[in-house]
Amino acid sequence: QSNQFCDAGTGYSESTCGVSSASSSKLLIKGGTVVNAHQQEIADVYVEDGIIVAVKPNIKVGDDVTLLDASGKYVMPGGIDPHTHLAMEFMGTETIDDFFSGQAAALAGGTTMHIDFVIPVNGSLVAGFEAYEKKAKKSCMDYGFHMAITKWDESVSREMEIMVKEKGINSFKFFMAYKGALMINDELLLQGLRRCKLLGALAMVHAENGDAVFEGQKRMIELGITGPEGHALSRPAVLEGEATARAIRLASFVNTPLYVVHVMSIDAMEEIAKARKSGQKVIGEPVVSGLVLDDSGLWDPDFITAAKYVMSPPIRESGHDKALQAALSTGVLQLVGTDHCPFNSTQKAFGIDDFRKIPNGVNGIEERMHLVWDTMVESGQISPTDYVRITSTECARIFNIFPRKGAILAGSDADIIIFNPNSSFEISVNSHHSRTDTNVYDGRKGKGKVEVTIAGGRVVWQDDELKVVPGSGRYIEMPPFSYLFNGVDKADAKYLSSLQAPVKRFLAS
Ligand code: URP
Ligand code: ZN
Ligand code: ZN
Ligand code: ZN
Repeated sequence: QSNQFCDAGTGYSESTCGVSSASSSKLLIKGGTVVNAHQQEIADVYVEDGIIVAVKPNIKVGDDVTLLDASGKYVMPGGIDPHTHLAMEFMGTETIDDFFSGQAAALAGGTTMHIDFVIPVNGSLVAGFEAYEKKAKKSCMDYGFHMAITKWDESVSREMEIMVKEKGINSFKFFMAYKGALMINDELLLQGLRRCKLLGALAMVHAENGDAVFEGQKRMIELGITGPEGHALSRPAVLEGEATARAIRLASFVNTPLYVVHVMSIDAMEEIAKARKSGQKVIGEPVVSGLVLDDSGLWDPDFITAAKYVMSPPIRESGHDKALQAALSTGVLQLVGTDHCPFNSTQKAFGIDDFRKIPNGVNGIEERMHLVWDTMVESGQISPTDYVRITSTECARIFNIFPRKGAILAGSDADIIIFNPNSSFEISVNSHHSRTDTNVYDGRKGKGKVEVTIAGGRVVWQDDELKVVPGSGRYIEMPPFSYLFNGVDKADAKYLSSLQAPVKRFLAS
């Protein structure tokens, strides 16, 4: 592997370490097309001490400023990946990328912030948060946390408030699948939705019917289907559609916004479309694997090849991918994540005799920005401004950190990429920066290339070289009551008066 970056004791070769001229605290990006979600314009971008100071044509500076020529290129906000699992203990093992290697990979691919899922320790959110604080100490880029809710009692309810009011967490994820492990039931989901609403936190769901998945898995094993294809066959799209519909209806009943993670099927997407059309605040997050892959890999006769595609909900048959792209291009779905959750071949081999034991998850944190550009912009489905919206800005808005993140504006953090639309990328397991020894996108090529990544005002990726420093990443606190909560009070009041009117009429008659 040709991992060429700085690392304090995590096992990579040392190459370009320390402060180079490129990490000067003053940067001028000259002559590029600056793309924000709301507009694009030709302008220079001046950065000082990690903050964007000015965005306008012909900025003049002194000679202590590092110049980056961006003419003919796009200057865009660094990607924000809303969905990752670094150093996560899961299915008897731990994801192979930690907060350093996963983030280094992200930076090489133009992503400058991610939001990872904290898993509680024995149901304790505080203990889970502390464990993730430790894991994240080696961070080389900015990150935030969502928190999973895996059980319910008074203490969980209290700790949710602590997370929101003291720890900078504004979203909680409920797993409707993984029976016997992370799965919660409808009663807990309802309690959680109510609590989220009160705290102004966004409820997120992994939407699959976990009881039915359990049945489906038994069915496959009874039929003698034990290989990776059994994973997809055991949990068809109808189970994703059912859980998505159920979560949407429960969120409507509580009147609180809902975020559906990893939307993998037409079935789930259509439930989201219907709810949004009716005015409900539902966000749908497709992930790169669902947008650009189909299930054919799962049928590969070589176990390791097939097992690398195992994730949940499963990658669907051809057709779902194109439909999810169309939904993304028309605003039915709003932003793209990765669900980066990599396991190496040895870990995937835990399930060699039984697909139920294959650790679930695929890579993507490094590949997302390139694959989304090639699949969505190069194909003509969306514009560069839309690209910025679905890879960065919308995530920043939903998690209430815009315009600090997700924008090239004076005052925003200097998380910036210089993207050459006339260059090209090629993904290879031999040159990627993740620690995993497989890559579900291995061999993919396309148009466009992230040539420079700037994180917190430092050039961390240039000339295909990483210059990352463990410990330089910051924890980004995310405040509650994002724009999704606008109007929730008014809708509640309207609902109450709609109940009272007929009662008054009845009493008056
Ligand atoms: O297969 C997956 N998606 N693994 C990560 C955990 C999750 O469900 O997001
Ligand atoms: Zn070093
Ligand atoms: Zn999930
Ligand atoms: Zn996930």
